[in-house]
Amino acid sequence: MHHLFHLAAILAWAGAVACEALAPINEDFDAYSHDDVDVCSSGAVNYTILAQKLSSTAQIILPSSNLFEAITERWSNLSTPVANVVVVPRTEQDVVETVKFANWCSLPFLTTNGYHGSITTLGRMTEGIEIHLSQLSSVTVSADGTTATIGGGVISRNLTDALWAAGKQTVTGTCECVSYLGPGLGGGHGWLQGHHGLVSDQFVSWNVVLASGSLITVDENSELFWGMKGAGQNFGIVTSMTSKIYDLVYPNYAMETLIFGGDQVEAVYEVANEQWLTNNKTMPVDLINWSYWYYDPTTDADKPVIAFYLIQEGVEAVDVAYTQPFLDIGPISNSSLNGTYLDLAAWTGIALDSGPCSKTGNANPRFPIYLKSYNSTAQALVYELFKQATTNASTPFSNALFMFEGYSQQGVKALGDDASAFAYRADNLLVAPLLTYASTGLASDEVAYKLGNQIRQILYEGSGETTLNTYVNYAYGDETATAWYGAEAWRQERLQSLKEEFDPSGKFSFYAPIA
Ligand SMILES: Cc1cc2nc3c(=O)[nH]c(=O)nc-3n(C[C@H](O)[C@H](O)[C@H](O)COP(=O)(O)OP(=O)(O)OC[C@H]3O[C@@H](n4cnc5c(N)ncnc54)[C@H](O)[C@@H]3O)c2cc1C
Ligand SMILES: *[C@@H]1O[C@H](CO)[C@@H](O)[C@H](O)[C@H]1NC(C)=O
Ligand SMILES: *[C@@H]1O[C@H](CO)[C@@H](O)[C@H](O)[C@H]1NC(C)=O
Ligand SMILES: *[C@@H]1O[C@H](CO)[C@@H](O)[C@H](O)[C@H]1NC(C)=O
Ligand SMILES: *[C@@H]1O[C@H](CO)[C@@H](O)[C@H](O)[C@H]1NC(C)=O
Ligand SMILES: *[C@@H]1O[C@H](CO)[C@@H](O)[C@H](O)[C@H]1NC(C)=O
Ligand SMILES: *[C@@H]1O[C@H](CO)[C@@H](O)[C@H](O)[C@H]1NC(C)=O
Ligand SMILES: *[C@@H]1O[C@H](CO)[C@@H](O)[C@H](O)[C@H]1NC(C)=O
Ligand SMILES: *[C@@H]1O[C@H](CO)[C@@H](O)[C@H](O)[C@H]1NC(C)=O
Ligand SMILES: *[C@@H]1O[C@H](CO)[C@@H](O)[C@H](O)[C@H]1NC(C)=O
Repeated sequence: MHHLFHLAAILAWAGAVACEALAPINEDFDAYSHDDVDVCSSGAVNYTILAQKLSSTAQIILPSSNLFEAITERWSNLSTPVANVVVVPRTEQDVVETVKFANWCSLPFLTTNGYHGSITTLGRMTEGIEIHLSQLSSVTVSADGTTATIGGGVISRNLTDALWAAGKQTVTGTCECVSYLGPGLGGGHGWLQGHHGLVSDQFVSWNVVLASGSLITVDENSELFWGMKGAGQNFGIVTSMTSKIYDLVYPNYAMETLIFGGDQVEAVYEVANEQWLTNNKTMPVDLINWSYWYYDPTTDADKPVIAFYLIQEGVEAVDVAYTQPFLDIGPISNSSLNGTYLDLAAWTGIALDSGPCSKTGNANPRFPIYLKSYNSTAQALVYELFKQATTNASTPFSNALFMFEGYSQQGVKALGDDASAFAYRADNLLVAPLLTYASTGLASDEVAYKLGNQIRQILYEGSGETTLNTYVNYAYGDETATAWYGAEAWRQERLQSLKEEFDPSGKFSFYAPIA
């Protein structure tokens, strides 16, 4: 909870000190005149001109403000963007004006939303304007209850709560403090994807500010529609949008947590893989399985544990048919929880008051790979490396977390491979070591980089795949555009031609740029 609360307080206070007193000037906002060249004079951009064009409750926060540090701080402190100023627009026209001002002054700009983007390409921004969307935060359910209009800066938890109050839900990312759009623009995985598909599969239309500063509406008839569902960070700033929503059918959930020791790694992932195959059943839509590896010396002083989660909808206890094959392995412990959909984030450690929602100053690189199934031999090999990484004497990685996400997939696979720019509908598992550490400089960053890639390489070799498939929203940052957006030539060509048309000078190229 703290970071959102904190931010809200900051913004309110900033309102009193920033640009509120400046009256908007009445002129054609489309063009800056040659006299305005002064506003851009190098080293001392005059933001008063911009302030005069913004609505009265927009904010401009300069580095001299004691608010600046908090409003630029990110979840991962590795290769972070650098800004000269933060603009907090109140209206979509404010976004338009800010982009035009940036263009007039040849300043780079970057949208910020939930601050959980961690890809190292963000560090290529070394100056310019951050456009923080927290004031574009409304959620409105349509009269017929099939769609909602959602502000570009809405945070996942706020959307879930607003829809829940109306007896509705939609696919969002699972972490409460991450934005709605951030995950969605890169595809978007969530608890409900087994029923409805990815976050981006729900998108109906967007209002988008393009690189030129023009505001357009993008829908299924627009060229950009396909590209923004999976590579969206490359094309514009979404100020508001409409998404499909659904009646709340299964409010109740149960979760079984099984804690295993490291010596059980092969057995656990053989069962995780094969229980549906050997039982000759297709993967059920009502079950999600996740696992985390982490070093918890209170459970095992020598090596990391495997926490395996079975999450089932519509029940008060997870079906014994799902739990029994895991219980048969002989876990160190097992425990049960039951509640509602709203409890899932807390159960899995990604609620507003959980660790990943606070900013620690740590570097948080991940090295993701999509897999079709587990290779228990490869799992055992990476376990050994992860064990060393977390338990070696004076290791910086004792708080590392290895994540294995197995969402149900029916809704994702219901669409064809070419349905959107998200390339990996055929894959089943999202796997990533998260090597949390406190950076002590480039040498320590290099150690993390090598280890992360070594782990990923083992998983890749065990997969039998011939392309490295990664989730762009978890990516480290030096994977190729092929790894982020799919290896097929037609995908790369289609994305490149959209980029050429809508962002030829690469203003939206700080986040996993299309080549
Ligand atoms: C703890 C944690 C949990 C996560 N859980 C999930 C999950 O369940 N499912 C999932 O799919 N992903 C998940 N992710 C990954 C997540 O999708 C990315 O981290 C994403 O970039 C976060 O978006 P953000 O708005 O929070 O971050 P930001 O850093 O603010 O933004 C990320 C990028 O998106 C762009 N952007 C954001 N909003 C807009 C907008 N309105 N218009 C245009 N561009 C915009 C920004 O410019 C930036 O380039 C998780 C990440 C973390 C750290
Ligand atoms: C900035 O621009 C405003 C509006 O044009 C002007 O009044 C002010 O003097 C300028 N400030 C500086 C430091 O040049
Ligand atoms: C979003 O949720 C947080 C925490 O619940 C709350 O403090 C904030 O006011 C909400 N923001 C909006 C715009 O609803
Ligand atoms: C598995 O299912 C297939 C088709 O659904 C069927 O032909 C086969 O006999 C089944 N095998 C077993 C062992 O039940
Ligand atoms: C662990 O599983 C067993 C077998 O299903 C069950 O009887 C027991 O209640 C479970 N323990 C907990 C704490 O959930
Ligand atoms: C559901 O949770 C409650 C506590 O929140 C507990 O008392 C009850 O036993 C649980 N039900 C099952 C079936 O585990
Ligand atoms: C972020 O990292 C930089 C460089 O590694 C460091 O100087 C800074 O103190 C870190 N920030 C925090 C909040 O720890
Ligand atoms: C752990 O320590 C051993 C012995 O010093 C070293 O060989 C190994 O590379 C370390 N492993 C990791 C992952 O840091
Ligand atoms: C876990 O989820 C993945 C992805 O849907 C699936 O391939 C795997 O069979 C699941 N395992 C279990 C035990 O549910
Ligand atoms: C599993 O991974 C190991 C180690 O890389 C490899 O030798 C083996 O061929 C893989 N198994 C399958 C079924 O791909």
